[in-house]
Amino acid sequence: MLPRVQPVSLAVAHPGTGFPGRNASCRWDDARRTIGVVTETKTPPETRTALPVRRLAGRTVGAFGLGCMGMSEFYGSRDDARSVEVLHAALDAGVTMLDTADMYGDGHNEELVGRVLRDRRDEAFVATKFGIRRGGGRRWHDSSPGYARAACDASLRRLGVDTIDLYYVHRLDPTTPVEDTVGALAELVRAGKVRHIGLSEVSTTTLRRAHAVHPIAAVQSELSLWTRDVVTDGVLAAARDLGVTLVAYSPLGRGFLTGALRDRDGLAEDDFRRANPRFTGENLSANLSLLTPVTEVARRHGATPAQVALAWVLAQGEDVLPIPGTKRLDYLRENLAAAALSLSAADVAALDSAFAPDRVHGDRYPAATMPDTSDAPGTRA
Ligand SMILES: NC(=O)c1ccc[n+]([C@@H]2O[C@H](COP(=O)([O-])OP(=O)(O)OC[C@H]3O[C@@H](n4cnc5c(N)ncnc54)[C@H](OP(=O)(O)O)[C@@H]3O)[C@@H](O)[C@H]2O)c1
Repeated sequence: MLPRVQPVSLAVAHPGTGFPGRNASCRWDDARRTIGVVTETKTPPETRTALPVRRLAGRTVGAFGLGCMGMSEFYGSRDDARSVEVLHAALDAGVTMLDTADMYGDGHNEELVGRVLRDRRDEAFVATKFGIRRGGGRRWHDSSPGYARAACDASLRRLGVDTIDLYYVHRLDPTTPVEDTVGALAELVRAGKVRHIGLSEVSTTTLRRAHAVHPIAAVQSELSLWTRDVVTDGVLAAARDLGVTLVAYSPLGRGFLTGALRDRDGLAEDDFRRANPRFTGENLSANLSLLTPVTEVARRHGATPAQVALAWVLAQGEDVLPIPGTKRLDYLRENLAAAALSLSAADVAALDSAFAPDRVHGDRYPAATMPDTSDAPGTRA
């Protein structure tokens, strides 16, 4: 008989009433039932916390963070009340890292996260980003020291906190040497406004240059079954070498790997995926055929494709921290349950080959917004 997935109710999202908190120790069966997966075939260890943990810059954080971007923009409509419930439920479940950025909803996303932090600041590891500016219908990158200082003050205000736990450069601009940007962020650390520094979408050379100025705690890059650039271009290996955590964004392939998105018809007019090459026309049809092995692995484990996709990211190493995004309680519950799913080496190998990079159709971004991960300008070497 196949293992069963048992949904659980997650209607109440207040401290102490949803999932057990991250420090709550409970029987493994209870934990698995609580996070939504019960298999009948595995022998559980004696005790476990509800969500496994990872180490990041000397801090202990839940093995999944929560990507908050879609609560404000890019993936359809907003529902702030529902998003606040999701944020509370995530903290209840042992998620600590909340991932936002000043550009998500043009400040809206940080304010939304701030609403939850008001009463629960100590339970969260707050990660935000600066460097993508927008105005007059345009977007541009600015990682200059002056802008870093101003953006940090604005983010602190919107989040309603004294200190940002992890402050990323979202995108480096084409002219500012990374040493100058990181130097300015190091001043913010000394001023107590920022605890740790992160970079997003950078090359190995840029990461090493930045790390030489001030320790970099995390690199955030896209990493999922269908986007493995950081594995092939050496960024993951360099991060590992330097003791830098790899924060994996879009680990569900922007929803594609869940199997729930089979055409673009249901997407809102302004949904980012409408213009994303992997979701257009023939590319989407070709990519959908890649999902068969994911569904097969899921069926064997009594899991869902989303859980398999997330378990694959977790299987990349203890220093890889996925931040799946959702604005729905049922998706949150399903995604966190992936922490209880252990893929075999054979499962991982089968998934690796099914999604070999040359089998994936379309770039991961439209050409105009493709992240530039060439080496940052300027060098003091
Ligand atoms: N550094 C960067 O440049 C960068 C770029 C992109 C994203 N990020 C960060 O990474 C986070 C995660 O990435 P992402 O949100 O782009 O992509 P993702 O996590 O791969 O996928 C999110 C999408 O999947 C859907 N989804 C989530 N769980 C699901 C489930 N169990 N079944 C079916 N559908 C499900 C969500 O739907 P709903 O929205 O309806 O819940 C949403 O449309 C973002 O929130 C953001 O914080 C960073």
